[in-house]
Formats: sequence, structure tokens, C-alpha cells
Amino acid sequence: MITIKPKHLCLLAMSTAQFFLAAAQKRTIEQKVDSVIKLMTLEEKVGQLNQYSGDWNHTGPITEDGEKQTQIRKGQLGSMLNVVGVEHTRDIQRMAMQSRLKIPMLFGQDVIHGFKTTFPIPLAQAASWDIPAIEQAERIAATEASASGIHWAFAPMVDLARDPRWGRVMEGAGEDPYLGSKIAAARVRGFQGKGLGNTDAVMACVKHFAAYGAAIGGRDYNAVDMSYRTLWEYYLPPFKAAVDAGAASLMNSFNDINGIPATGNNYILRTILKGKWNFKGVVVSDWGSVGEMIKHGFAADEKDAAMKAAIAGCDIDMESRCYKNNLVQLVKEGKVKMSVVDEAVKRVLTKKFELGLFDDPYRFCNEQREQSQKNNPAHRKAARELSEKSIVLLKNENNLLPLSKQTKTIAVIGPFVKSVRDNLGFWSMEWPDDSSTIVTQWEGIKNKVSIDTKLLYAKGCNINDTDSSGFAEAVEVARQADVVIMSVGEARDMSGEAKSRSSIRLPGIQEALIKAIHATGKPVIVMINAGRPLVFNWVADNIPSILYTWWLGTEAGNAIGDVLFGDYNPSGKITMSFPRTEGQIPVYYNHQNTGRPAANETDMNYVSSYIDLYNSPKFPFGYGLSYTAFTYGDIVLDNKTMNTKGKIEAKISITNTGNYDGEETVQLYIRDMVSSVVRPVKELKGFQKIFLKKGETKTVSFIISEDDLKFYNNDLQYISESGDFKLFIGTNSENVKEVSFRLLK
Ligand code: GLC
Repeated sequence: MITIKPKHLCLLAMSTAQFFLAAAQKRTIEQKVDSVIKLMTLEEKVGQLNQYSGDWNHTGPITEDGEKQTQIRKGQLGSMLNVVGVEHTRDIQRMAMQSRLKIPMLFGQDVIHGFKTTFPIPLAQAASWDIPAIEQAERIAATEASASGIHWAFAPMVDLARDPRWGRVMEGAGEDPYLGSKIAAARVRGFQGKGLGNTDAVMACVKHFAAYGAAIGGRDYNAVDMSYRTLWEYYLPPFKAAVDAGAASLMNSFNDINGIPATGNNYILRTILKGKWNFKGVVVSDWGSVGEMIKHGFAADEKDAAMKAAIAGCDIDMESRCYKNNLVQLVKEGKVKMSVVDEAVKRVLTKKFELGLFDDPYRFCNEQREQSQKNNPAHRKAARELSEKSIVLLKNENNLLPLSKQTKTIAVIGPFVKSVRDNLGFWSMEWPDDSSTIVTQWEGIKNKVSIDTKLLYAKGCNINDTDSSGFAEAVEVARQADVVIMSVGEARDMSGEAKSRSSIRLPGIQEALIKAIHATGKPVIVMINAGRPLVFNWVADNIPSILYTWWLGTEAGNAIGDVLFGDYNPSGKITMSFPRTEGQIPVYYNHQNTGRPAANETDMNYVSSYIDLYNSPKFPFGYGLSYTAFTYGDIVLDNKTMNTKGKIEAKISITNTGNYDGEETVQLYIRDMVSSVVRPVKELKGFQKIFLKKGETKTVSFIISEDDLKFYNNDLQYISESGDFKLFIGTNSENVKEVSFRLLK
């Protein structure tokens, strides 16, 4: 029997009041938006859907551009990107305040992996599997960016990617929809913090909607052709997770999907995003993508492009000027309904109200706050910690690592050793004082070793040319050392946007340099800096210790030093399969079994395999070693059957059987053995990152519910089907323990 007590009545009254207050506030914003839009001319409405770039590297970006200045003052430019800093954003905001209705300007920026403090590239951060740390990184980025007048981060990029030739894999979370969804939601929470309206919260912008990562051939901007089932099953979940996390905006992608450019794609923008998902935020085009529908062959001219994009649900036109030059006329001709324009404008104005910009357009323009974010030690500490967690130990034969800080002589060789900005990776901000704030790998190593350690340096070669004149010096330096640390890889502009590579080997003659150093017989550690999985089979087969150091950002050197000398035991695990060769692409863990699966690595007898290559990737999804060793017990299920309302608990014990304390990411996969559409051989459905002291044992528990067993059937219904399942738990997608259970319906 439930007894209602006074305190319950009080709580009920409070929550009711809060509900109505929130509803009143919400209604207030809606009412305010409606009141503003009633005052707006059609030209002013179209202005809110118009976005241009500034040039923040400039001293006075906009004051030198008359066209933009005029349009701002006429209220014909609603948002800008690439305008950074309190001074510049305030200048432009002042111009916007001279417009008839004083509608504030919105400032967006590509804050992809940090703002003042550069964090590891997102693909590296994903390898940490540390969701709270990834969220914190975006919280810090938002704090720094908002202090410099930015209202809107054009991030997170959540494009699932299975093809490492595509340069933009560096911006995402890799090949898995489950992990990608967890990371997408965390990044949105990080950017938006306690909610828009707080001056340290910025709008997130989830991109690129949709399926940009499936560009054919891994060639950026290329066509995308896939079944809608694949779209729903793999490419949409991270977007849905981000929308569910409250993302304020989305950016559509450049690519077409099955022949219809995303920018003008009614199915993804209206039917899915604004329809099924009830998304109330803003959709911004990618740079010029409205106009690019002409080149796609989907629009006859800019006017046609503007019409198709607006009707499909693209709210803001970034940089193509198709809306600016045509939307007024299209409305006057009745080709675009005023209601379509009004709906888009309301979405934009709602965000400006939510950000508090109508109350105070200058609330993000605070010099003191901006100054306080320069070289913030707490931010650098967080960056260093996330960088450590992002490093992946691919190999460590004879436990060469960690090195002793008392090592007598260490040779540090390679084009990355003293490189500065290459540590930042693509999509990092460029600050004048970068070279004094970025910790190089050389400095990081120097910071670690004892005063008696002799450090020798040789560049050996450049990143991407054929000049081997530095080899002799490098070999000589190696000969004098007890151990050699080499740092090689891609230049920071060899991954990222418009940076697809047909060959994903170590550039230039870096492999030859490694071979020359290896030939000295000295113990060699190779660190690979890159924005994507590379192919480096000779190195992988012949070098005893290999660290994948990605591009780690401002604190790269210190994080690398921490790992090299054992102050941090590496725990990173790759989130994209590493192919053995480009010919194996796409290779990913959650593949289908086919009717003729290869029985093992070398089975090539009328099975789905190559006659000249092993069947597995060089390094599988979820792979990463530790300085210690973890032993997995057997999986114990509390039940062997469950119904759709039920749950199964899977437990497993893990023991640290090595000599170092360390972290392990325990991964849970399932396989649906028989279903109405074939299912992958494994699907990630859970992970837990645990810390184990040496000798310690912990039991990890996972709960499986029906939701974990659902998939999109041939009719695109998200359902589960009864039958047998396998459940796997292990240290990566290949090295797992396995049990079975049954779903009863
Ligand atoms: C670029 C990118 C997009 C970015 C935008 C603004 O072309 O595709 O990710 O946010 O333009 O710089």
C-alpha cells in the first residue's frame, strides 16, 4: 500500500512548477522566435540561412571584405566560420547589431580535437576506449573555444569508416557502430556541457550526415552506394546517438547516397532526421555542398540547387551563396514555400536564443576568460593523460619496453623526433606560439631520462622524399647507443580532408631507414605517427617493439615519454582493423561469414579468401598490448536462455599475471547464428576498461538484454529474432572466450 507523505506532495508540487516553468521558458523562446520572424523581411530570413567563412588567421578578417561587411549590416549573413578570438568576433557582432533587427551573428569553428590545447586526433582518442576522458576533452575544447567567441563547434565527426585509404578516418572513431555511438554521445555532452546558455557551452554539430566514410575506393568526396539496411545498421547509429544526446546541429555530407546528394536528400534529412528522429536543431550544409549538387549532376544550376537543398531540409548554406542569390526569388516564384524558409529560420533563431545571444550578443566576448585559457595547466594535464591512453602497443618482444630511465646511451632517430606541428595532426588550430607550447618527442624523452643518460639524435631522412644522405649519420648514432628509438610516419597533411592515399605505406624511404638501423643489430623501438592505419609489414615482422603514436597533440612528447619509460603502461586498442595490404581493403571485424568462410588464416581452398594473402588483418579491431599480461577465465552465464523481457548476465574473471599494474579494455561481442538477414560473425555490444594491479583478479559482468540482439531486417524493422546466439568476451575481436545462449520468443 503506498502512503503519500507531505514530502511527496512537496516534491510533486516542485516538479510540477519546474515542469511548467520549463514549459513556460520553452514557450517563451518559441514565442520570441515567432515574434522576431514576424518582423523579418524575406531578405532578412534568407540572410539567416547564409553562412560565410572569415579568415581568422588574418589580423582583421572581415574589415577587409566589403561584400561581407555590407551583408552583415543588412542582416543578410546569419552565421560565419573561421572567425576566432574575442576581438574579431566582437567586431563582427557590432556590425550585426547595426542591422535593422539586430539579430546576433553565430560563430562556428572546426574544433575537432581541441582548441588552444590540442588533444590526440579522434581516431587516437577512440583507441583509449575511455568515454569519460573523451567527453572531458570536448568539455575542455568547448571551454577554450567559447572563451574565444566561438558558439558552435563543427564536431563531432561520427562517420563510420572501414577504409584507411580515406584520409578522414583520423577524425572519427573507426569501424564500429556501437563504440562510435558511445563516443558520439560523449562528444556531444562534452561540447554542450550543462546546456546551451552557459557561456562555456557550444553547439555541437554532428557530421557528416550521412555515410561519408563509405566513399568508394576510400577516395574523398566519392560516391556512396549501399543498401539502406547497411545505412541503418552501421552508418546511422552514431548520428542517432548524438541526436539523442541533444546535439544542437548536424552537418550534411558532400557525398551522394545511392545517387542522391546528402545536401538535397529528402530521405535522410526530412524522413529520418527531422521526421523519425524528430530533430529540432539546425542542419548546415558542408562547405559549398549546396552548389556542388550541380557538379553531382543533381541540380541544373544554383537556383535549382538552392531549391532542392531547402526543400530537402538543409537549413543553412555554408559558403555556396546559392541561398543568398536565389532563395528570395524561389519563394516569390512559389517554388519554395515561405513555410520552408520559416521553418529553417526558426531553427536558427531558436539556437541563437538558447545561446543567450539575443539577451547579450557579446556574452562570449570576454578578454579575461580568453586570456585564462592560454596554456591552461589543467587542460594540458588532461591532454597528456588522454594522449597516454591513446597510444597503442602493437608489439613488445622480449619486453624491450619500458626502457630504464638510467639507460646509458639512447639514440633517437627519425623525421618526427624534433618535429613540432606534425604532432598536432590535421584539423588542429594554428597558434603563433605553438612551437613554444607543443612538447616535441625529443623533449618528452629528454624530460624522462636521468642526467647520466646520453641522448643522441639523427633525423635520418625526411618524411616523404628519397634523400638517403642522412642514413650514414643515423647508423653511426645507432652504433653508439644501447637502444634506438625511432619515430616515423605520415606528415600531418597526409591524412585529413582531401588526403586519401592509394598506398598507405610509410612515406618516402622511412622503411629503408628502419632497415638500415635494424641492420646494426641494436635493439630498436619504432613509433609510428599517423592519422590512419598504415601498412608496415616488414617493420611489424622484424622490429621487436612498436608503438602506434598517431598524432597526440600539445602534450605528445610527454605522453610518449611516459609510455616509453613505463610511467604509463599503454592500454590503447585500435578501433580500425589494420590491413596487411591495400588489396585487402575493406577489412573489418564485423564482416559476414559468407557461404564459404575460410577455416583459418591459410585456407584458400574454394573459400572466401585471397590466394596470395592471409585472411586476417595485420592487427584486428580491439587489439592492443600492455607491458603486463592479462589472463581471462571462462565466461559464466546466469542463464542459457532468455526471453525478450529477460536478461542474461555474463561474468568473467581477469587476472593481471604480469609484472606491471595496468588497464585492460574487456570487450563483449555477440553473434546471431541464424536470422532473416545474415548477421556479422561478431558485433561489439559492450566494453569495460578496468585497472588491475599486478597479481590482482577482478570479475567483470555484462548484462545482455533483447536490445543488444536487435538488428534491421529486410524491411528495415529494428527487431530481434529468436534462436541461438554466441557470446564472446576477450581482449580483442579475435582473442576471445565463447559461450552460447538462446533467445526465446
Ligand atoms: C570542410 C569539412 C567540414 C568542415 C567544413 C568547415 O570542407 O568537410 O568537416 O566542418 O568544411 O570547415
